[in-house]
Amino acid sequence: MRHLLEIDDLSADELAAVLAMAESDNAPRVLEGKGMGLVFEKPSARTRNSMEMAVVQLGGHPLYIQGSEVGMDTRESVEDVTRTLACYHRAIGARVFAHNTVERMAAVDIVPIVNMLSDEAHPLQALADLLTIKAIFGSLEGRTIAYVGDANNVTRSLAIAAGMAGMKMRVGSPGGYQFSDVDRDRVLASGVDLFETGNPEEAVDGADVVYADVWTSMGQEAETQQRLRDFEGFGITADLMANASPDVAFLHCLPAHRGEEVTDEVVDGPSSHVWLQAENRMHAARGLIAWLLSVNASVNAEES
Ligand code: CP
Ligand code: NVA
Repeated sequence: MRHLLEIDDLSADELAAVLAMAESDNAPRVLEGKGMGLVFEKPSARTRNSMEMAVVQLGGHPLYIQGSEVGMDTRESVEDVTRTLACYHRAIGARVFAHNTVERMAAVDIVPIVNMLSDEAHPLQALADLLTIKAIFGSLEGRTIAYVGDANNVTRSLAIAAGMAGMKMRVGSPGGYQFSDVDRDRVLASGVDLFETGNPEEAVDGADVVYADVWTSMGQEAETQQRLRDFEGFGITADLMANASPDVAFLHCLPAHRGEEVTDEVVDGPSSHVWLQAENRMHAARGLIAWLLSVNASVNAEES
C-alpha cells in the first residue's frame, strides 16, 4: 500500500507523473461511488476545500470529520479510527498535530493515507507550489526558491520537493528557527542544493521565487509574542523583494498574517501569485489522489 506522508514518499519520476496528472483536464473517475474520509485535528480553509473538490472531481464523496468527533486516541485509538473509516472510504486524508499520528494510520495499511499537514510535513502544499512555479516559469529545473521565516513543516516539504525537481533552495531564518539536524538530513537526501543563512537579504539575493509562511504555526500560539520578537527583520517587504530576480514570484502557502511575515504591498502586488497557488491546491490534490489510487489498484491486482 502506498501512502503520502511526506513528498519524498514519491520518487522524482512519480512526482513528475503526479504533476502531469494535476495539469490534466481529464480527471479519471477513480472515486466513482466511493468516499474519502478527511480528518482534521486543526482548522483549514484551503486544504479542506481543495481536497473536498478534488474528490468530487474524481467522482467521489468527501466526508469532513473533526478529529475531536472521532476522538483520535481518546474515544478510540488512532488505529481503530483508521480501521473504522476504511470500512466506508477508499482513502483517508488526515491533518494532525503529531506526524507520528499519520505514520500510525499508514501502518494499519488497509487504505492509502494522505498527510494533509502535520508538525513535520505539508506535502500537498509542496505539490501545489511546484505546480504554481511551473505555471509561472514554464519549468522547474535550475530555479531558486528563497524561503524566509520559520524552517517549519511547509519549508521541509518544499525543500525536499525542490531537490526532487532539480531546484535550488535557500532558507533565511533567525537563530533557533533553522532546520533541526534530522530535518536537514531529510532535506539534503533529496539532493537539493541548500543554502541556509540568518540574513534575509542574502537568502533572497537574485532568487526566482520568494516564499513566506506564518511565523507561528498552528499549535504554537503560546509562543506568538516571543516569535514576533525573534522574527523581527524577517518580514517580506517591497524593499526585501527588490534584492530578488526582476521576474521574482512571491508565494505564500496562506493563511497570511499581513503586517507580520509579509506586507500588504507584497502579497497584493504584481509579483504575488498566492491565489493561483491556492487554486493549485485543488489540482494538486486531484492529481495526487488519482495517482495514489491508480498505483495502489495496480499493486492490489499484482497481489491477487
Ligand atoms: N495552506 C494551507 O494548508 O491552508 P489551510 O490551513 O487553510 O488548509
Ligand atoms: N506552518 C503552518 C502552515 C499552515 C498552512 C502551520 O503549520 O500552521
